[in-house]
Amino acid sequence: MGTWPDGTGWGPSRTDGSTGRVNREPGRERGLEMDDDAGKSGHVPVMLERVLELLAPALAGDAPVVVDANLGLGGHSEALLAAHPALHLIGIDRDPFAIEFSTRRLAPYAERTTLVHASSDELEEVLARAGRETIDGALFDLGVSSPQLDEGERGFAYSYDAPLDMRMDTDQELTAEVVVNTYSAAQLVRILRDYGEERFAPRVASLIIKERAKDPITSTKRLADIVRQAIPAATRRTGGNPAKRTFQALRIEVNAELSALEAALPAALDALALGGRAVVLSYHSLEDRLTKQILTARTKDTSPPGLPVPLPAHQPRFRLLTRGAELPSEEELARNPRAASARMRAAERIRVDDQD
Ligand SMILES: C[S@@+](CC[C@H](N)C(=O)[O-])C[C@H]1O[C@@H](n2cnc3c(N)ncnc32)[C@H](O)[C@@H]1O
Repeated sequence: MGTWPDGTGWGPSRTDGSTGRVNREPGRERGLEMDDDAGKSGHVPVMLERVLELLAPALAGDAPVVVDANLGLGGHSEALLAAHPALHLIGIDRDPFAIEFSTRRLAPYAERTTLVHASSDELEEVLARAGRETIDGALFDLGVSSPQLDEGERGFAYSYDAPLDMRMDTDQELTAEVVVNTYSAAQLVRILRDYGEERFAPRVASLIIKERAKDPITSTKRLADIVRQAIPAATRRTGGNPAKRTFQALRIEVNAELSALEAALPAALDALALGGRAVVLSYHSLEDRLTKQILTARTKDTSPPGLPVPLPAHQPRFRLLTRGAELPSEEELARNPRAASARMRAAERIRVDDQD
């Protein structure tokens, strides 16, 4: 198993555990202007046609509800709202700027949207507040958004010199700077190994510890230089920027991405009505592996082996809609190279019983 070359992702937990504001006022700071088309061209919704196709059968009723758990710039959401005139969309994002931007973008559909600044792992609470017990569709588009990557000062990219930040939710306290300067060597090794699949995790961690003792490490450039020095020269010459794996690991840690997915995807699946569908787009192998585990666990018959008749309570509640992970087409990759690391999986609710 390897880390995909363009691996990008996100997701910390809100430090105060609260659900954010609903239907916030649109903001205009940070150059997030719609009229220059930056939103639409700067971020192209990944595998859009396939997302629409997979969700459509679940959204054919009189008043379908869909949750977009990674609203971002609202690209997928806008297309869903346009395609389904009776659809109500609940959009969640932990990045306040994504909510501001999408509030403006989706203004033509304001009566059919509820946009919430929250982490997707608060999904149950978000649905309760919105007065929705069940939903018909759920979309998880897990990667970082283009503005998060492209706005150098947010500290996600090793290609810009910026403060070591990497928070998706700019209200949370934990930053990459805190991780790099306060975690123990053992903690750093664990995250570099587990989240970055960095072969040289102990070397990178020990150089970080040595360097931070001289002076706190506060910039992306200094961290990228330290990683470069820690990686043996022969390895440095092959396979891209050596800082990529460390930056991915830090981003996953800062944003608690995997634990957010681990809580949010099951909550969305539990909320799906009969015939409801969930679609997940992952951008690195750890996310895809977790998605696969969560989806396949629910599509299995769990009857004890050897029974003459399968037990109804052990019958699967879901069926997979994708064979393995689906990839973007060559044509999409030519238009949007950032889609290269995308892997899509989807499932449909086929049974609801008393426990649900
Ligand atoms: C790839 S972008 C989504 C793009 C969107 N589908 C579109 O078409 O514009 C991923 C978004 O998920 C958000 N995000 C990541 N983890 C999250 C979480 N745990 N809860 C809520 N939003 C999260 C990020 O802030 C980012 O805006």
